[in-house]
Amino acid sequence: MEWLTALLTPGVLLGNAVLWVALNNRMHARQWPRVLVRTLDVVQMLAIPGVSWLWLRWCALNWGGLGWLGSPWDPTSGKVGPTAGESPPGAASGLPWWAWVGVVVLQWIAMTGAIAWWRRRRAPLPRQVVGLSRQRHDLSSGPGGVVRDSFVRSPFQWIPGSELLRVEITTLRITLPRWPAGWPGLKVVHLSDSHFAGQVPRSYFERVFALAAEQRPDLVVFTGDLLDHPERVDWLPATFGLLQAPLGNFYVLGNHDKSHGDVQRSRELLAELGWQDCTGPCRLVEQGGQVLAIGGSEQPWLGPAPDWTAAPASALRLLVSHTPDQLDAARRGGVDLMLAGHTHGGQVCLPVVGPIFSPSENGVQYASGTFWETPTLLHVNRGLSGRSSWRWNCCPEVTVLELRGGS
Ligand SMILES: [Fe+2]
Repeated sequence: MEWLTALLTPGVLLGNAVLWVALNNRMHARQWPRVLVRTLDVVQMLAIPGVSWLWLRWCALNWGGLGWLGSPWDPTSGKVGPTAGESPPGAASGLPWWAWVGVVVLQWIAMTGAIAWWRRRRAPLPRQVVGLSRQRHDLSSGPGGVVRDSFVRSPFQWIPGSELLRVEITTLRITLPRWPAGWPGLKVVHLSDSHFAGQVPRSYFERVFALAAEQRPDLVVFTGDLLDHPERVDWLPATFGLLQAPLGNFYVLGNHDKSHGDVQRSRELLAELGWQDCTGPCRLVEQGGQVLAIGGSEQPWLGPAPDWTAAPASALRLLVSHTPDQLDAARRGGVDLMLAGHTHGGQVCLPVVGPIFSPSENGVQYASGTFWETPTLLHVNRGLSGRSSWRWNCCPEVTVLELRGGS
């Protein structure tokens, strides 16, 4: 049976990991009680090594090992594998029926996960998008660089390759099909997921917001998850206060603002700093006789659904949404451009495999980047930070969107 063990083991281990990560991503996309989510987080974290260990142990006890991997230690007898000519303990017995069902399910998950991954890798970029530049800044280097938090408080920051204190200014040119003739263009800066908490110091965000202000945008958008600690609202003047775009600064809040912050206090302070809450009835912005309607969505956590009734038929529609899961609603609302965050780009992006942690009903499908789903162009920003200090191969992002018309 060693060949069978060797054949099944990769699928069982991979399927098990994919199952729990996929469940975790979808769980964090919903509005569940915080205690339940935290408990399930721990269960899922233990299930990945736990189920893998049970499978390997079962193989050692019943099938004499893992074939080409050799015979692991048998914890019941203390010996290493069966001796020559001796059948391994329990070799004649098969897996119970329910375990076989589990093995088949895990194999199926591994296979469908691999197919989904392959199809995603081959998905073409929307033809409406041209990447103009990507400028990376390591804000921890040089004199006056941002100082990392201690290893005890924030161990992931010390893993080689951590990008927690870096930022990438990504500039994209986007052509929108309904762009009105005669409107030369609009420069929008998109920021998301600042998650002010303390493990990433205020000086990091001050420098990021200063870099964003240097882009001299016409319009600024923030797509939620402002803070993870209510006292960190005192960071807003030195960060969000640096941005004053001529056509306005617009924001929505996110699920962390609801569960870890003081929503009312955050909205009041943002208003004092000139930021406009764009949930509810859409806001109309005019430039050179052209109208842009801006709607906001904090669903499913906060606020009402966007209301487009005030938007003229000819106006372009921009939806500012915390989660990309509102894409179907945006398409139904005839939204031209949707900007979202929440998924943090997957937070950890493994070579070949890609993004891992993406709290969305669609898993990692919309973890970051641009997507065209007629009639809506969606851009998902990787965010600036996160509650967890995991940031590996997934640089924090400020997006500069140069909106244009034409073919
Ligand atoms: Fe977030």
